[in-house]
Amino acid sequence: MTASTTIAREFANSKMLMQFSLSFIVTSVICGLFVIIVLYCLTLKKYKSKSEVSKVWHNVTVNGRPSRKIRKQRSVRHKKKMASIAITQAMKTCKSEPITENEQPTKSASSTKALKRHSPEECKDVFNNPSNKKQSPKKSKVIRETKDFNHPVYKSISSQNGEINRMTHQQLISTLKQFNLDSSGYPDILKKRLKLYYMESSLGKAGLDSHQTAQSFDYLCVIDFEATCERQNPADYLHEIIEFPIVLVNTKTRLVEDTLMLFCKPLLNPKLSEFCTSLTNITQVQVDYADTFPVVLETVNWWMKHKELGSKYKFAIVTDGPWDMNLFLRVQCKLSKLKFPSYAKNWINLSKTFSSFYKTSRVKLELMLRNLGMEFEGQPHRGIDDAKNIARIAVKLMEDGCNLVINDALT
Ligand SMILES: *[C@@H]1O[C@H](CO)[C@@H](O)[C@H](O)[C@H]1NC(C)=O
Ligand SMILES: *[C@@H]1O[C@H](CO)[C@@H](O)[C@H](O)[C@H]1NC(C)=O
Ligand SMILES: *[C@@H]1O[C@H](CO)[C@@H](O)[C@H](O)[C@H]1NC(C)=O
Repeated sequence: MTASTTIAREFANSKMLMQFSLSFIVTSVICGLFVIIVLYCLTLKKYKSKSEVSKVWHNVTVNGRPSRKIRKQRSVRHKKKMASIAITQAMKTCKSEPITENEQPTKSASSTKALKRHSPEECKDVFNNPSNKKQSPKKSKVIRETKDFNHPVYKSISSQNGEINRMTHQQLISTLKQFNLDSSGYPDILKKRLKLYYMESSLGKAGLDSHQTAQSFDYLCVIDFEATCERQNPADYLHEIIEFPIVLVNTKTRLVEDTLMLFCKPLLNPKLSEFCTSLTNITQVQVDYADTFPVVLETVNWWMKHKELGSKYKFAIVTDGPWDMNLFLRVQCKLSKLKFPSYAKNWINLSKTFSSFYKTSRVKLELMLRNLGMEFEGQPHRGIDDAKNIARIAVKLMEDGCNLVINDALT
């Protein structure tokens, strides 16, 4: 066999192969197109028939009225809609604080009518538990039904509440003193305290469990960071944490069990501004000799582990400043190239809890204290002192029967 014949045969072979593969490709493309067209026609038909059916369905009438089936369907839809409206209304009512317990009848007669007032428990249900927000109307109804509000004790509680609403500040103080209760604070807070006391004792007498004092967490870690700052922070200013305080509150004993206070050495702006040192009373020497943030966070984690927080005990972080987790810790973790600690991803926003529990407008730390008849102790804007004062408010809330729950998260 010569070389030329071999080449000729190979050439013929490859030509045949090419022809074959070409025809194969063409056939498969045609088949594919056919399948696509058939599928498209089928879906179109299905869609068309569905919309037609629904149209006809709508028009099925019996003696000029929609058929029973349609009426039933419509009423179910209507009920669902009304239930969802009711839930959003409830959430709005719980969120908006203007409705105070002792509101003037002239000012709010209409608003009271429009927005049904909700008991704190209901508000808690809607708000504190984010999963409840999307609850189906059926489920929320079930929850309400399990509580038997027909019991006569609820009637007497509500009339007691009416009486408390009409009390003067002096009457409130003397009544609270009579029961050995704390009588310091603004009238709204005293009213709330007295109502809760009456409610608990009435429910107790009626043999119903009020569950008022149960706490969701064993421990609260109150945190209030201090960070580097200027008198006028430029828009792109990067705050670095310079103080990391934790006040550990036991929710059973309601006592501060321990405190941790660590200074941090800033790296981007190692020299504290005069404004910062005078605001926080943290000195240059204190941060100069401090550890850097990664070491501090490791110490904090070790401390938490040592306290068995997150293992044996359930705990939650409590903050008041709007920037603690969302700004300071987030920026600092980015700067230090650390993973954001998972336990800091949600927390108890104490000002939110305070205003929804006592039905006051949202107020700053010092005003919350004054509302409760307390004074700020220590140096304001100093992390550890702020945290201690926040802890005092948390303790007062628990004493007044508020279950502190997570109500804010990283955005
Ligand atoms: C349904 O009834 C309305 C009037 O009530 C009419 O305009 C419409 O054409 C009807 N639709 C069908 C699909 O019969
Ligand atoms: C608490 O909630 C209020 C209102 O939503 C918000 O302005 C504030 O920044 C929050 N604070 C914290 C610490 O999350
Ligand atoms: C500032 O801190 C120093 C000690 O670091 C302390 O002696 C002083 O009392 C503090 N100032 C205030 C107003 O608390």
